[in-house]
Amino acid sequence: MIREATPDDVPALLALERALFGADAWSEALIASALTSDHEHVWVSDDLTAYVVTMVAGDLADLLRIGVAPAHRRRGLAGELFAMATGHARSAGAVRMLLEVSEANEAALGLYAAEGFSRIDERPGYYGDGSDALVLSRALG
Ligand SMILES: CC(C)(COP(=O)(O)OP(=O)(O)OC[C@H]1O[C@@H](n2cnc3c(N)ncnc32)[C@H](O)[C@@H]1OP(=O)(O)O)[C@@H](O)C(=O)NCCC(=O)NCCS
Repeated sequence: MIREATPDDVPALLALERALFGADAWSEALIASALTSDHEHVWVSDDLTAYVVTMVAGDLADLLRIGVAPAHRRRGLAGELFAMATGHARSAGAVRMLLEVSEANEAALGLYAAEGFSRIDERPGYYGDGSDALVLSRALG
C-alpha cells in the first residue's frame, strides 16, 4: 500500500536516499523540508522500501525523486507510486508532469517510457559522471 509520508519516515527515507543515490543523496534537512512544503509531496510504500517526491505548482508537476530498494524492484512498486503521484498532481490542477533523468539510467528510462513520458530537451554533461540529463514530459489529462 502507498501512503503519504510523515516526519517519522525521515530516517527510513534518508537511508533509502543514501543507498540509491550515494553522494547525490538528499540530506536529512532536505527530506524534512519536502515533508513540510506546501508544494512538495512525498509518498512511501508502507514497508518503506519505495518512495516518490513530486512538486506541484499551478498547472505543472515536477517528479523530483522516485526510488525502490533493489530487492523490491520489478514488482510494480514504481508504477503504484506513479499512479498516486499523478493522481494527486491532476487533482491539484496540474496538466503536465516534467522530470529529468540521466541518459545512462536504463531502469528509470524504461519506467518513464512505460509511463508515457517523451523527451522534450536535453542538458549535455549535466551529471557528475558526464552523462546528459534528458528532460521528459507527459500530459496528465
Ligand atoms: C527506476 C526504478 C524506480 C523502477 O522501480 P521498479 O519498482 O522496479 O519499477 P516497476 O516494477 O514499477 O516497473 C514498471 C515498468 O518500468 C520499466 N522498468 C522498470 N525497471 C526497468 C529496467 N531495469 N529496465 C527496463 N525497464 C524497466 C518496465 O517497463 C516495467 O514494467 P515490467 O516490469 O512489466 O516490464 C528503480 O529501478 C530504482 O529505484 N532505481 C534507482 C533510483 C533511480 O534511478 N530513480 C530514478 C531517478 S530519480
